[in-house]
Amino acid sequence: MSDRKHAKRKNKQRSAPARREKRACCKSTPVPARAAKFAYCESMLRCPVCASALHLAGGSLVCDRGHDFAISKKGTVNFLSRPHESDGYDQDFFENRRIVFEAGYYEHLVEGVASFFDARPDLRCIVDVGCGEGFYAKRLIAPRTDKSAPAPSETCLLPSRTLIGLDLSKEALQVAARGGNDVCWIVGDVAALPLQDSSMDAVLDVFTPAHYAEFARVLKPGGLLVKVVPGANHLKELRHAFRDLIRHEDYTNQLVVDHFQRHFKLLERIPLAKTTRTTPTELKAFVRMTPLLFGVDEKTAESRSVPEITVDAELLVGTPLR
Ligand SMILES: C[S@@+](CC[C@H](N)C(=O)[O-])C[C@H]1O[C@@H](n2cnc3c(N)ncnc32)[C@H](O)[C@@H]1O
Ligand SMILES: [Zn+2]
Repeated sequence: MSDRKHAKRKNKQRSAPARREKRACCKSTPVPARAAKFAYCESMLRCPVCASALHLAGGSLVCDRGHDFAISKKGTVNFLSRPHESDGYDQDFFENRRIVFEAGYYEHLVEGVASFFDARPDLRCIVDVGCGEGFYAKRLIAPRTDKSAPAPSETCLLPSRTLIGLDLSKEALQVAARGGNDVCWIVGDVAALPLQDSSMDAVLDVFTPAHYAEFARVLKPGGLLVKVVPGANHLKELRHAFRDLIRHEDYTNQLVVDHFQRHFKLLERIPLAKTTRTTPTELKAFVRMTPLLFGVDEKTAESRSVPEITVDAELLVGTPLR
């Protein structure tokens, strides 16, 4: 991010009509292909520094006060003023997650989320907070390529959907943006969303810490929070196999659900669970990508037998208690 002190000083003196002029001139600056998708979401964004509106100008998003955020060649934009500490969420972590996702362990969650949004075509502007490598956001915006699957019209697809994928991790978004896609990828913090008030039809939060006040602020009246949380049987086989190395073998999401209900009215609770047979490569990747087992050394991890793994979650749907 480059804070254009220059432009800022000038803007202080500039009259309102002059500012409008600058904006019009920004709009006419040619927009490179990598940045074009941000035209769909620019009106929903706000400057993370001064909270004023952002406009697409060439290959950047620029606010009225001259704060300038370059859109990278990959089609991501960084709204953080300084890099965050990764806490184990590094490139390796995201590569291991890719192995696990591509092996299908989480496919029922991706499909569960997609089915929910298929049934609600009115939810057009969606932000996926803590989107990671973007498996959910990309599924919501792209048609299935599998020919045996139902036609796009029967699945989730509305070409007019706008998807913003936000994550603290630049590394995650680099994986998400690979190959090019129409999701607007933003490096940002869930606790200070760079989004306008009442700009979103839905906030999607999958296995990511929530910031309920921010979610309520950015949701339009009638907008929905769709939060996916682990269920009681989530990774029960891993928790059993490594029970001597973790604090609790048993898990309940009651505290998370209680917290949700202190801020949002719980409208729906949809269970999603599946058990999958493991291969040694997938198991290794699973252990490396499970925060519960961060710090377990490779030898110990490989010595334990875990023939199958259950991914168990609940989809919580709610509206803000205002
Ligand atoms: C367990 S991963 C879930 C990723 C993705 N939602 C999924 O289920 O595939 C949690 C994600 O939240 C992100 N995250 C953690 N704290 C965050 C914050 N304060 N703001 C934005 N993202 C955050 C991490 O970088 C990570 O990608
Ligand atoms: Zn600004």
